[in-house]
Amino acid sequence: MLEQLEILRVEATAVIGAALDEAALRDLEVKYLGKKGPITELMKGMKDVPAADKPRVGGRVNEVRDELTKAVEDRRSALDGERIARLCADPGFDATLPLKKPMQVGALHPLTLVTRHIEDVFRAMGFMLLDYPEVESEFHNFDALNIPATHPARDMQDTFWIETEPGAPKMLLRTHTSTGQVRTMRNYPAPFRAIFPGRVFRYEEVDASHEHTFHQVEGLMVDKKLSVANLIHSMKTLLSEIFERDVTIRLRPGFFPFVEPGFELDIQCQVCGGKGCSVCKHSGWVELLPCGLVHPNVLRHGGLDPNEWQGWAFGLGLSRLVMMKYQIEDIRHLLGGDLRFVQQFRQG
Ligand code: FA5
Repeated sequence: MLEQLEILRVEATAVIGAALDEAALRDLEVKYLGKKGPITELMKGMKDVPAADKPRVGGRVNEVRDELTKAVEDRRSALDGERIARLCADPGFDATLPLKKPMQVGALHPLTLVTRHIEDVFRAMGFMLLDYPEVESEFHNFDALNIPATHPARDMQDTFWIETEPGAPKMLLRTHTSTGQVRTMRNYPAPFRAIFPGRVFRYEEVDASHEHTFHQVEGLMVDKKLSVANLIHSMKTLLSEIFERDVTIRLRPGFFPFVEPGFELDIQCQVCGGKGCSVCKHSGWVELLPCGLVHPNVLRHGGLDPNEWQGWAFGLGLSRLVMMKYQIEDIRHLLGGDLRFVQQFRQG
């Protein structure tokens, strides 16, 4: 075996050293050092070498492999040097000319990636995909959702109001995507199921998990007979599709004037694994997916008889879901406009 190895070493060193160009060198590299090459074969043959000879023979095979690898590297840098020398010798070559501008390759924002994924999941379950205005009436944002002017629940979401003419209906930047609930009931005949993703705005203090501008996805299903079990099943399907693995969640009662009963679905913080960090305010949990059965007053505003129709709705905190999926430790990265952030999500 050692004799065979020596013949191989002498032959391979000579031909590698004489390779004429990079392509020929690459072929030789594969021929001698590739998976199907003689060195690999010799290594496989080690099992037949008597135990007493194994260290010596094995050691020599390794030495020859390293020697040939170095011969390839040396030849490659020699060929490179020759190529550069040829270029410099060309009288038309100007080393001071600027390089060609590298091609700019864009990337989809993680919010877009996850929104598209959610849209696919719900389309497959027969949901319509709808889009509603960001500048909204006070009626759709509050009154239609069972939150009249004097109701303390209005203060749950601090609002950017828009100046309007005296006497004109009050307008605002929508504080949640629930504005689409009554619009959908009025626009589509029941039964129906729909999602409406979008950007929402709140006049609030910004920190690692709160933005003034963030994204939600609303889901609404109206039918003759629905239950909390349907709702929770759909929420679990959504989360397992998005995370492509099981994630720990918890369900607790939640108050929203437009649902009864209402729930808060929290997810174990994926940034710290539940240990506690600035994203989950050191609680280990992140509020993600409030939901519930649509309140009869909201169905009435939508022109539906609550004795005949039922509904469930959810308002997914999409920005937080994106943070959980990609373990982003600060929500401000999402709309910060730093290209280095978005480029990390380049696919393919
Ligand atoms: C709502 O906005 C309700 N419209 C949700 C709803 C819909 C309940 C349908 C029942 C039925 P809330 O204010 O909790 O609820 O916001 C929903 C989610 O948006 C939160 O769970 C959270 O994930 C996210 N969220 C809320 N405020 C912010 C913020 N400032 N920055 C980022 N995400 C936020």
